[in-house]
Parts: sequence; structure tokens; C-alpha cells
Amino acid sequence: MNPEERRAMIADASKTELHIHVEGSLEPELALDLARRNELALPYRNVREARAAYAFTDLQDFLDIYYAGMGVLYTPRDFYEVAIAYLRRAHADHVLHVEMFFDPQAHTPRTTFDSVMRGLTVAADEARGWGMTVSLILCFLRHLSEKEAFETLENAERYRDELLGVGLDSTEVGNPPEKFRNVFAAARDMGLRLTAHAGEEGPPEYVWQALDVLGVDRIDHGNRAIEDPALVARLARDRVPLTVCPLSNLKLGVVDDLRDHPLRRMLDAGLMATVNSDDPAYFGGYINDNFVRVADALDLSLDELEQLFRNSFLASLGIPMP
Ligand code: HPA
Ligand code: ZN
Repeated sequence: MNPEERRAMIADASKTELHIHVEGSLEPELALDLARRNELALPYRNVREARAAYAFTDLQDFLDIYYAGMGVLYTPRDFYEVAIAYLRRAHADHVLHVEMFFDPQAHTPRTTFDSVMRGLTVAADEARGWGMTVSLILCFLRHLSEKEAFETLENAERYRDELLGVGLDSTEVGNPPEKFRNVFAAARDMGLRLTAHAGEEGPPEYVWQALDVLGVDRIDHGNRAIEDPALVARLARDRVPLTVCPLSNLKLGVVDDLRDHPLRRMLDAGLMATVNSDDPAYFGGYINDNFVRVADALDLSLDELEQLFRNSFLASLGIPMP
């Protein structure tokens, strides 16, 4: 396939998106509008300054500006607007199903858990009218304590039926999955599905812990799993999905060049890898851009692309009944 054929094939393919942080889809234009509406300051005054500030060296460097940006989200309407803008964009990219992460602990110091949930659920319901399904995954911030994660899970009990599962994100190194052993067990007892970011910057040991201590159904990122042959064998044997995010990896220095991205090695090893956008407003591309850039860099074949689109459905943690 030449690059034009590949681009058209990617644009047309039905797909799911399983690794998207709704807060990471907040484009600077909307952030600036919301800052004006809510009478707040942002660390940038215009879109040009915002884009200039999005030159990250690593995960923490990104997280600092990501948390500052989401500080403009207050009301249910604010959360609705950021979610619906992402869902419209995903719909245009032929995404049929979305598993959307959100970070309530990044919001509850300034607004209520209910504002977040009301905004996101109204957007999800609206997208259902276009034939999309949207499931919500609540992420615990791993730089905070397990006690704070438990308080968040308690808040979530009232919304049990609106949630597909829980995840784990934020600063990885120094915050291993085992820190959240008990709260993940409690979430499992509530019937929630489990996933965790692991092996983005953290070592393969964190991926083992996510599997064996937390008992996750899926690994978000998982790049560094490729360093450990026994772990690769385990992931392949159990068909554990990996939600890989190529442009995120490039922008955060997880890979120096997309030509060195482990995606092909993951597919060759029989891993259930998928392609996703992570935080598209910050990393320079939505899901189809991620497919095009990584497919061009690795010269992915038609078979490999078809496998990735199939994987996106197989790796879903739960597509709700329409
Ligand atoms: N890693 C960890 N935390 C995050 C990310 C990520 O890629 N995106 C948003 N929060
Ligand atoms: Zn992520």
C-alpha cells in the first residue's frame, strides 16, 4: 500500500478508541473560552503561546501543564463541552465505541464529582444518538494516596451504573501499581472492570504488578513490557490488551523516533496491541493521525492495519447495549 492508500484505508476503517483522557482532549481554543467564561487565568494567553508551551521532555513535564489546563473546567456544561467536542471528532474518524478516561481527583479540589459526572454522561448520551457507544473509566491519580483513591471510589458508588471501570494514571515512576492493591480489590467487588497505565516510563515490574497484584483486564501503554521476554509471553498467552499511544510516546520521549516504536514488535510477538490518542489536544493528533503516523513510520501492511482495527474491538472492556 502506498501512503495515500493507507491514509484512505485508515480514515474509512471502523474502530474503537480505548485510551483517551477527556481532559487531554481540551483544545487551547476551548480552554481559553472557558477561562474567559469562568474568569480564570491560564499559563498561556493565546493559542500560539499554548502550542509553544506544549514542548514536553517527559511525562511529568506534560502532567504539569495538563493539570493547569483542566483548571478551567467547573460546571457540568464545561465538562459536557470538552467531551462532546472530542466525541464529534472521534465520530468523524469513524470511531464507533469509546472508553473514556476521566480524572475526578484532578477536579474535586475545585468543583464537585457530580458536576463532572453530569457533564460527561449528557455528552455520552448525545453521542449514542449518532450510533456511538461511550463508556466511562474513572482513573485514580497514582501520585495521591490509596486513601484518597478510596474516597473517590466512595463518591463513585452513586454512579456505579454509569461506569465501566477504574484505571490508574499520572506520575508512574515511584508510584507502583501495588500501592493501589486494596482499592482495586474494592472496585472489583463493585463489579467494575480494571485497567492501569503501566510500562510507559515505569519498568516491566510495574506491568507484572498491574497483572498479578491488581488483576487488571488491560494494560494502558505497556511499551516497556517488550524488554522482558517472560512478560511478553504472559501477555500473549492471556491475550491481555495493550492500549498503545504512538504520538504520546513520541511527545513524552518514551520513544525518540516513531521508526523505533515497539508496535510492530508487539504485533509480531502476538500481543493484542491497539492504537489510541491518549491526550490528543497536547500530542498533536487524534486517533486517525496516530494510525497514519505510526503506519508510515513502520510501513505497516494492510494485514497489520486490519489486525489493529480488529484488536480495537476485541480489546474493548465492554460495549454497552444500545
Ligand atoms: N500517562 C499517565 N498519566 C496520564 C497520561 C499518560 O499518558 N495522560 C493523562 N494522564
Ligand atoms: Zn494515558
